[in-house]
Amino acid sequence: MGTLQFHRVLISLFPLVFLLCLSSLQFISAYTVPDKYFINCGSDSNFTVSGRVFVGESSLSFSFPKQSSTEKDTNQSSPTSVYQTARIFGRQFSYEFSISSSGYYAVRLHFFAFSSSSSNLSTAIFNVSVPNFLLLQNFNASDSSKSALVEEFFLRIHTGKFIITFSPLESSFAFVNAIELFILPNYFIPNETRYVSVGGQGNNYVGILSLVLKRTYRINVGGDAVTSDSDDLWRTWELDDPYLHNREDARTSSSDSNLNYQGGDESVGPLATRYTAPNTVYLTAKKSSSSNLTWGFPVEKNSIHLLRIHFCDLESTSLNVTFFNLLIHKNFTRMINSIDVSTRLPTPFYYDFVVDSDDYGHVNITVAPDASAPIPNAFLNGLEMLQIVDPSDSVPGYEAEDKQNHLAVVLGSAIGASVLICIGVVGFLIWHLKFRKPDEKKAENSDWGSVPNGGGSSHSRLSEVPNINLGLKLSFHELQHATNNFDARKIIGKGGFGNVYMGVLKNGVRVAVKRSEPGSTQGPTEFQTEIMVLSKIRHRHLVSLIGYCDERSEMILVYEYMEKGTLKDHLYNSKFPRMSWRQRLEVCIGAARGLHYLHKGSKGGIIHRDVKPTNILLDENHVAKVADFGLSRSGPLDQQPYVSTGVKGTFGYLDPEYFRTQQLTEKSDVYSFGVVLLEVLCARPAIDPSLPRDQVNLADWGNLCMKKGMLEEIIDSSIKGKIDINSLRKYGETIGKCLQDDGSDRPSMGDVLWDLEYALQLQRGAIRREPHEDSSSGASQSIQLPNVRRLPSLSALSEVDDNSIVRDDETDSEAGLIFSQLNIDDAR
Ligand SMILES: *[C@@H]1O[C@H](CO)[C@@H](O)[C@H](O)[C@H]1NC(C)=O
Ligand SMILES: *[C@@H]1O[C@H](CO)[C@@H](O)[C@H](O)[C@H]1NC(C)=O
Ligand SMILES: *[C@@H]1O[C@H](CO)[C@@H](O)[C@H](O)[C@H]1NC(C)=O
Ligand SMILES: *[C@@H]1O[C@H](CO)[C@@H](O)[C@H](O)[C@H]1NC(C)=O
Ligand SMILES: *[C@@H]1O[C@H](CO)[C@@H](O)[C@H](O)[C@H]1NC(C)=O
Ligand SMILES: *[C@@H]1O[C@H](CO)[C@@H](O)[C@H](O)[C@H]1NC(C)=O
Ligand SMILES: *[C@@H]1O[C@H](CO)[C@@H](O)[C@H](O)[C@H]1NC(C)=O
Ligand SMILES: *[C@@H]1O[C@H](CO)[C@@H](O)[C@H](O)[C@H]1NC(C)=O
Ligand SMILES: *[C@@H]1O[C@H](CO)[C@@H](O)[C@H](O)[C@H]1NC(C)=O
Ligand SMILES: *[C@@H]1O[C@H](CO)[C@@H](O)[C@H](O)[C@H]1NC(C)=O
Repeated sequence: MGTLQFHRVLISLFPLVFLLCLSSLQFISAYTVPDKYFINCGSDSNFTVSGRVFVGESSLSFSFPKQSSTEKDTNQSSPTSVYQTARIFGRQFSYEFSISSSGYYAVRLHFFAFSSSSSNLSTAIFNVSVPNFLLLQNFNASDSSKSALVEEFFLRIHTGKFIITFSPLESSFAFVNAIELFILPNYFIPNETRYVSVGGQGNNYVGILSLVLKRTYRINVGGDAVTSDSDDLWRTWELDDPYLHNREDARTSSSDSNLNYQGGDESVGPLATRYTAPNTVYLTAKKSSSSNLTWGFPVEKNSIHLLRIHFCDLESTSLNVTFFNLLIHKNFTRMINSIDVSTRLPTPFYYDFVVDSDDYGHVNITVAPDASAPIPNAFLNGLEMLQIVDPSDSVPGYEAEDKQNHLAVVLGSAIGASVLICIGVVGFLIWHLKFRKPDEKKAENSDWGSVPNGGGSSHSRLSEVPNINLGLKLSFHELQHATNNFDARKIIGKGGFGNVYMGVLKNGVRVAVKRSEPGSTQGPTEFQTEIMVLSKIRHRHLVSLIGYCDERSEMILVYEYMEKGTLKDHLYNSKFPRMSWRQRLEVCIGAARGLHYLHKGSKGGIIHRDVKPTNILLDENHVAKVADFGLSRSGPLDQQPYVSTGVKGTFGYLDPEYFRTQQLTEKSDVYSFGVVLLEVLCARPAIDPSLPRDQVNLADWGNLCMKKGMLEEIIDSSIKGKIDINSLRKYGETIGKCLQDDGSDRPSMGDVLWDLEYALQLQRGAIRREPHEDSSSGASQSIQLPNVRRLPSLSALSEVDDNSIVRDDETDSEAGLIFSQLNIDDAR
């Protein structure tokens, strides 16, 4: 199929795919996150609530101190069963979590103060803290004897160890029924925003992300209360009625239109994404055409809140006919008009402010119709207030903590991974049984040559694709504008294909614009392949395609902008600081996750074919993403290796077996990745012609050194001596396996990922030794981490049916893909 024809198909199918997506949106609750912990405290059994499996403590092998016990509510009328049990602490105790991705997280603590024969949980008084912050002070849950109390916090957590500490007051005790900890979507909370005080407006409030936010109000205006089932991030939204001053003036407004979400992955408001709030919040509102409507929220005196106000014009049929004023504290006014943010209706959007409370402890919000508007109307769809919690001097930070005092529980990532698998599989099965519709099978079954926007054909994948990426086609004009007419000063990369420019789209999203030059190595085939592959898949560790342009015989691809450049830069460019061993491992783990997803996550598997450090990019948080899919191949469904007509790839990284047989398998990527691992360790290029002959090819040289047991000799001098020897050994073994001559002797990408994570654990010192070894370190030294071992079931399973079980951050959606494939096979 020629490029033109392909695009025509893409465009003609678009409305269909789009409608299919919209009609299925309501069923999606597949926010998939890398690190998540849902714990059913005080219980040995798992319990599922709204798609989350709260795992019993016994499956997590916590070792609780003697002063801790469990309680069970014998009164049958508890609201749900995570609230039937509680973990009780007679003295200070910390839950410890292992975090593999830095980011902004949600922490939810569930309290339900039931009474049992031995204790009355209403009488507990305690503090809850995390490093540097006191979350709850002299807290008692007596309000929760009728219905559960859920305290929710947002905070930044860095890779490594994270603890939540419960400190009972003298002669009292602490308890908790359930704990949630999961990462929020990128750019969910802004780092700085407009500061509005009672006395008028001030400058921006900066550094929000360094503080903790505590939910005080979350309101769905004009609609029903929203439960955690209907929210992708399991939030609850309450009714606005109790807060509305002049209820008689308000009319409710609701709609069942399709919302035009226009917020992108990387934009910080005002355009909402699907995760900003559930559809139901934007689809209902309260409005008035003549009176001002005011909502008042009692808050702590002298407190400061992040105020997020949600709008969506559900009634206007054209833009700029309805606009009105938003007032905060009657002294700050802002005009609200959809035309300022969008060209389409109804588009959900929101504004963030930081507000202080008035002298009486109130925050008052007013919407005031503007009589000069063609159709005067003022409305409000939703509102959130998150109290800003400052660091507390009385709480130790990450460094100062005293290990002896914490009877800590290490939740190793290995355990986490097995938990994730179960959560994903169980969650998916439930979803699958409940919602799968027959017409999707058809869509899944079609060859993706004819459904290029494959992301639209499956719920699980769609849920990863914000709407901005469904409209992939961009005009040449817009790209000219974005790159200042392809200004040479905006060039951030050059290659055989042409230049890569840094650009800014109209919506403020920063992008990398790759423009092929006529006669370049990137021909129409690569262009088409890349659009097909990238519009089909989305993953945290794969660079996202934002759009493409094929006007005027241009071939332009627009990607998310990767601020920190390529892995190659970080290895060789002196402008970048040398990466530590841990950072290097984290980058490799990220790239391995991306490749593993390519291989196992999509129908039939995708082979990258050009794995090398220039194709591994880092975003501003140093999250590694695999890029450049121009050469990639989709493996056929029957798992037969793909036989190519010409060997492609980059010399130095090329799988020798593929070179010999021209048979391409996923194991070719594993080989190339092995070379990358070696390069990361040694910081020398894969091919260096200036060296003695036996050293020119890094893979050969590395293999030789490893055989002689002198891998340590060739380590990059900037990290030499800083690597834990066990971590190095594991890493070296992994390289050795990847570089096996025979593809079948090489591990799968999933196994490589597993090994790298293990090497990272060893570097962190979380594990002292390999389980089968019994050498120097005494048992007393090793922190209990019972489940850290290679789970034989993982590789065994993948050998049985090649539907490898997933153990990375896209659990839900990968499970989804795997199962949809099984389904197709069944259907044949
Ligand atoms: C059991 O629950 C009901 C309803 O919540 C409550 O009225 C009753 O007091 C509870 N009994 C005990 C022993 O807590
Ligand atoms: C539990 O303690 C609270 C507060 O002290 C008290 O109001 C309540 O009656 C107690 N419940 C039982 C069942 O003793
Ligand atoms: C429990 O907390 C509430 C506020 O949430 C407070 O009014 C009450 O006095 C507290 N009870 C005790 C015994 O501290
Ligand atoms: C709880 O927090 C307050 C305020 O920081 C502190 O004064 C108190 O000692 C803490 N209580 C415990 C038991 O840690
Ligand atoms: C409103 O803000 C102005 C300054 O911006 C201030 O002078 C005035 O006192 C404020 N009014 C009220 C009611 O706080
Ligand atoms: C947020 O802003 C503060 C203050 O400008 C800065 O120190 C911090 O690095 C920023 N955090 C993020 C995640 O951008
Ligand atoms: C919106 O309409 C107002 C008058 O109602 C006009 O002054 C303004 O220029 C219009 N804005 C745009 C962007 O068209
Ligand atoms: C906010 O509303 C409350 C009533 O809910 C009122 O007492 C207070 O004066 C209002 N504050 C301002 C600044 O308008
Ligand atoms: C409604 O708000 C506007 C500010 O936009 C104000 O001028 C007007 O006086 C208010 N009306 C009432 C009845 O409070
Ligand atoms: C609970 O889930 C965990 C992990 O998801 C699993 O290992 C364990 O067997 C489950 N326990 C029960 C009782 O189902």
